[in-house]
Amino acid sequence: MTQALYRTWRPALWDEVVGQDHIVQTLKNAIATDRVGHAYLFAGPRGTGKTTSARLLAKGVNCLEDSLEKRPCNHCANCVAVNEGRFLDLIEIDAASNTSVDDIRELRDKINFTPSQGRFKVYIIDEVHMLSTSAFNALLKTLEEPPSHVIFILCTTEIHKIPATVLSRCQRHEFRRIPVPVIVQKLKELCKQEKIKIDDDALTLIARQATGSMRDAISLVDQLSSISKKITLSIAQDVLGTATSQSVIDLMEASLAGSSGKGLEIIHQALDSGADPRQYARQVVDYLRDLLVIKMEAGKQLELTPEVRVTMEDHAARFGMNRLVSMITAFTNAAVELKANWHPGLGLELAYAEALSPEVLPAPNVTPQPEPEQSQPKSNPKEKANTTAAGSAPKPAEVERPTPITGPLTLDLVQEHWESLKRAVRTRNSITSALLNSSRLVDVDGNTVIINFSSNLLRDNMAQEQNSRLVCSVMSKYFGQDVRLICTTGEQDAIPRSSANGGLQQVEETLKKLGGQLREIPTEYSEKDE
Ligand SMILES: Nc1ncnc2c1ncn2[C@@H]1O[C@H](COP(=O)(O)OP(=O)(O)O)[C@@H](O)[C@H]1O
Ligand SMILES: [Mg+2]
Ligand SMILES: [Zn+2]
Repeated sequence: MTQALYRTWRPALWDEVVGQDHIVQTLKNAIATDRVGHAYLFAGPRGTGKTTSARLLAKGVNCLEDSLEKRPCNHCANCVAVNEGRFLDLIEIDAASNTSVDDIRELRDKINFTPSQGRFKVYIIDEVHMLSTSAFNALLKTLEEPPSHVIFILCTTEIHKIPATVLSRCQRHEFRRIPVPVIVQKLKELCKQEKIKIDDDALTLIARQATGSMRDAISLVDQLSSISKKITLSIAQDVLGTATSQSVIDLMEASLAGSSGKGLEIIHQALDSGADPRQYARQVVDYLRDLLVIKMEAGKQLELTPEVRVTMEDHAARFGMNRLVSMITAFTNAAVELKANWHPGLGLELAYAEALSPEVLPAPNVTPQPEPEQSQPKSNPKEKANTTAAGSAPKPAEVERPTPITGPLTLDLVQEHWESLKRAVRTRNSITSALLNSSRLVDVDGNTVIINFSSNLLRDNMAQEQNSRLVCSVMSKYFGQDVRLICTTGEQDAIPRSSANGGLQQVEETLKKLGGQLREIPTEYSEKDE
């Protein structure tokens, strides 16, 4: 297998980096004036040049060329070693797979050794937002007083997850999405050199699909050039536009059938066979938008093959308008925000989970009621349950009124309040909310609420601190006592309802038998996480 095009096309000199002129200029100047800092943070969407620039900086500070302005020269021994991935003083760490505090401690211990080949030891920590809190703290210690021979370059696609304490110690550079014409220009050059025949309008289509990521754009060209000797617009359209459309149709079927397992399976299959999560999400959105068009009786405008039209008209009839709108919102989030950048597919899974729960958006025909009784404290949870049962409007602020109950929680009680608890979570964090929506309440044992997920991935994400703490915090406030959360997977139908005592153990045993797993979440929670 030959190397992926985007790797062979990694810029080896500053001039080859496009669309980030401001950053390139600043970094070049720093090298030219010998004023390179000790800690940098490169933030921005994937495929925009963060790793590339980090390596260029590493090369620049270690280059052996006499003239500072000409560094990196790209042909001295050190430059060549960096290019070939064998420069000992360039250490690249993928925080996505080295998140523990031990990894960072190890790094800290090694850091005091002087560089072996170059002037500076450069640490590039990719996806740095994935570090655990304790690992961040360990890192912080090092950032406070970095040895003079060390340079840190932290890279992230999610700057909002970086603690302020870390941000304040770094020189920050925000990489932008690369504009379509700039991508087109670069692709043209690449195609010419690689002897790939491609039409201009196909290039434009690819550049658009890449939404600012040069890496995605190059990968698309790579993919298309392996399919056809000459890439025409219609080939590009066929491949980019409809390659996974059957998968999208299947996904919609699964969603209509309300099947979470089937839907996730379809998503995994698509990703396993190489679909890009963002593009896939975009295709889902396009499909749903077309359904909306059909629903609004403007379907004649759409250019569709007869078979596809039949399917789409069927789907359009079966999806309600509200459901369509909420699904479009959910999948648009997956396509643009790519919150789950660090885990391909998670954004899609969450969107699908949301798509399955019809309460995502309040139906427009339900007028949100102002709540006259809002300010009156209520002490009896049963009373509240009755109001809910009588069909009052959603009360997102409900959790603000603590409902202290005495004695242990019961499944019935939690069940009665489940929908409003979910709404309360939704007002605080849409990801946590989507995760919660994709779970099912299975049991309550003492002050422990047990929920079940259809996939380990979803379970593990809920078990992450920021999500589980939020849920615990909302429930604890709501019920006026410490509430713990346990996230499970496995066949929930087979899980017995607990009796007052020993129920949890029974659940555990049954789960083990079924090959499921338990994740316990610490009881303490804090509001500042929100
Ligand atoms: N600004 C850019 N200019 C030229 N090529 C780029 C740029 N950004 C990304 N690329 C291309 O995409 C590939 C991956 O880029 P990379 O720097 O690893 O992205 P990031 O670290 O931001 O995700 C590079 O090898 C290169 O081919
Ligand atoms: Mg990178
Ligand atoms: Zn050099």
